Amino acid sequence: MNQAISMSDAPPLRDGAHTDGTAGACAAPFESGSDSPGDGCAGTMAQHLCVIRSNEWVNDEYKHMVVSAPAAALAARPGQFFHLECPSGQRGTAYLRRPMSVYRIEPADGRIEFLYKVQGVGTQGLSEMVAGDTLNALGPLGHGFALPDACDHVLLLARGVGLATLAPLAGHAVAAGARVTAVLSARSRALVMSEAYLREVGAHAHIVLDDDRSSDLVPLEAKLRVLHGSNPFSFLATCGSNRMLALLQRLGAEWCVPGQVAIEQLMGCGIGACHACVRPFRAEGDVGRRSYRRVCWDGPVFDIQETLPW
Ligand SMILES: Cc1cc2nc3c(=O)[nH]c(=O)nc-3n(C[C@H](O)[C@H](O)[C@H](O)COP(=O)(O)OP(=O)(O)OC[C@H]3O[C@@H](n4cnc5c(N)ncnc54)[C@H](O)[C@@H]3O)c2cc1C
Ligand code: FES
Repeated sequence: MNQAISMSDAPPLRDGAHTDGTAGACAAPFESGSDSPGDGCAGTMAQHLCVIRSNEWVNDEYKHMVVSAPAAALAARPGQFFHLECPSGQRGTAYLRRPMSVYRIEPADGRIEFLYKVQGVGTQGLSEMVAGDTLNALGPLGHGFALPDACDHVLLLARGVGLATLAPLAGHAVAAGARVTAVLSARSRALVMSEAYLREVGAHAHIVLDDDRSSDLVPLEAKLRVLHGSNPFSFLATCGSNRMLALLQRLGAEWCVPGQVAIEQLMGCGIGACHACVRPFRAEGDVGRRSYRRVCWDGPVFDIQETLPW
């Protein structure tokens, strides 16, 4: 079942919300890959009732949920998210929905996947759902990643749960003809996820770990410099770590390579109405000025140089 949210339900628009001078989110369908204000967005946001196919642990902290989803939900783009209604679980009831990125979209098979860390009351409720249960998912929401026109080599730099958000960009970029290098950072080898998935879609995956200090900033920067030296990056994408964001901001500025970051923020409505998710950003073209944007509505994917660490 889908219950579409019409334009008249959309929250008020804010001037100058996007770096391209447009405002508002994706309440209307946009052509995939278009240069319209909706580039990086797709689909009419709607409440979807999805049937859970599986919901399994992948390690001690993360679960992988696979659902059957209707066509409107399958229009989701990498970096977009769904606002999930979480059932009551052992830790109680989450009254607000919880935002979750799309981890994998397989339109031909009618399925969407989520990779999530079981943290608190909401994700605990999600973790207790089983095959055959119905997941109420509002979306797709927000602006996803938008690759530049000339894009030969994409770097994905992900830490922890940031991987769930970046992973679908790998297949998308490969399909667009780009080489993809994914650098996955984790505390230990046991917490590295999605290596096989990334290789399956054609990405070149590199692992850096806290255990052996290869994830420390100095060796990580050295590794990125070697990778860029052998095959220059044309787009940088990151999610999941402040220090990795700062590193890519510095390297992107030095190399004159554009990039985007997907950020996480506690949310209320998820559709731009409550302003619970507002964060400060560097105003475009004026590093001294701040602009304030709603992560759910104006993001969650933002220009890497405009994003302030949190
Ligand atoms: C756009 C977006 C996409 C996301 N995608 C994913 C994803 O693909 N996989 C995934 O595991 N998580 C993702 N998250 C984070 C996820 O929404 C939170 O982990 C979840 O809301 C926690 O809910 P809870 O009820 O289990 O925990 P709560 O009881 O609400 O909180 C548990 C702990 O987590 C902290 N926390 C809760 N929400 C956030 C947040 N948004 N950012 C930082 N800290 C938070 C709380 O402060 C608290 O310390 C995403 C968040 C956003 C905004
Ligand atoms: S969560 Fe309500 S405006 Fe973003």
